Amino acid sequence: MGPASRRNAASGSRPQRDHFARTGIDADRATARALRGAKQAWNDWGSIDPLWSIITHPGLQHGRWTIGEFWRLGEDEISHVMSTAGHLGLPATRDEALDFGCGVGRLTRAMTRYFSHSTGVDVAESMIDQAARLNQGYPCRFLVNDTDNLAQFKDSVFDFVYTALVLQHLPTVDLIRTFIDEFLRVLKPDGGLLAFQLPTYVPPRSLRNRLRLRTRAFAALSALGLDKRVLYDRFKLVPVMQMNFIPKQEVLTYLGSLGASILEVQCGKFEFGEVASATYFVTKPG
Ligand SMILES: C[S@@+](CC[C@H](N)C(=O)[O-])C[C@H]1O[C@@H](n2cnc3c(N)ncnc32)[C@H](O)[C@@H]1O
Repeated sequence: MGPASRRNAASGSRPQRDHFARTGIDADRATARALRGAKQAWNDWGSIDPLWSIITHPGLQHGRWTIGEFWRLGEDEISHVMSTAGHLGLPATRDEALDFGCGVGRLTRAMTRYFSHSTGVDVAESMIDQAARLNQGYPCRFLVNDTDNLAQFKDSVFDFVYTALVLQHLPTVDLIRTFIDEFLRVLKPDGGLLAFQLPTYVPPRSLRNRLRLRTRAFAALSALGLDKRVLYDRFKLVPVMQMNFIPKQEVLTYLGSLGASILEVQCGKFEFGEVASATYFVTKPG
């Protein structure tokens, strides 16, 4: 039984907001199936348009990102986060950093300016392969993590855990909570800093989006063996890219229930259209 369903079974009081959050083996199977689907979709994104799937800038789809600009945005983002960390006086030491959902290592690479080593993990092999190739010579490593936990890492090993533009793509709200729990587990107590971004609101999908014709057609035709790049470039069919959120107050209550100390919450970044987002800066008492 994975951590998600262990907690479901243990806590009857937490609102069960998503349809996978049942107790017992059904939840495990449903979570595993949802994770497999997400892994397939991100592997596809990683092979057909990795940079645009990471930052969906209008006009830069179909391979139009320039890699230098892509890295620069990563450096700016980590510089901003580390400046907040500096105000907070954390992390106490700067040995090991973890970038959850690293993609091609945009942020993992930028973290090496501040930490002796950084580790990027991602569900998709196609992303990890490119991250390893593109970031040779930087003190970072890249590992596939396609389970509902971070069991490949021991407790209390990272000075800094960061994730941006990832939790929103996890297939269930329960899985988002599970990973927040895992981030705190692998974080060093008394001096480690966790910073995670997560939308606080995503508007309901339009009817057209709900039908997901372009993603269904992509899945069906690629299963028949049609070339995924042709489906994407010529027929404008796309792999799934799911969007999830948790309201801010629910995240704060959840962090409180885990015994975490919330140091700062920044809103306003990573927002577009009606999507609202927050970045939570959190530490773990010893
Ligand atoms: C929008 S990209 C962001 C990449 C990176 N954080 C950045 O900002 O450059 C989302 C990444 O999350 C990864 N991802 C999605 N679900 C994941 C999961 N369950 N575990 C780990 N990584 C995941 C995807 O493969 C993809 O590389």
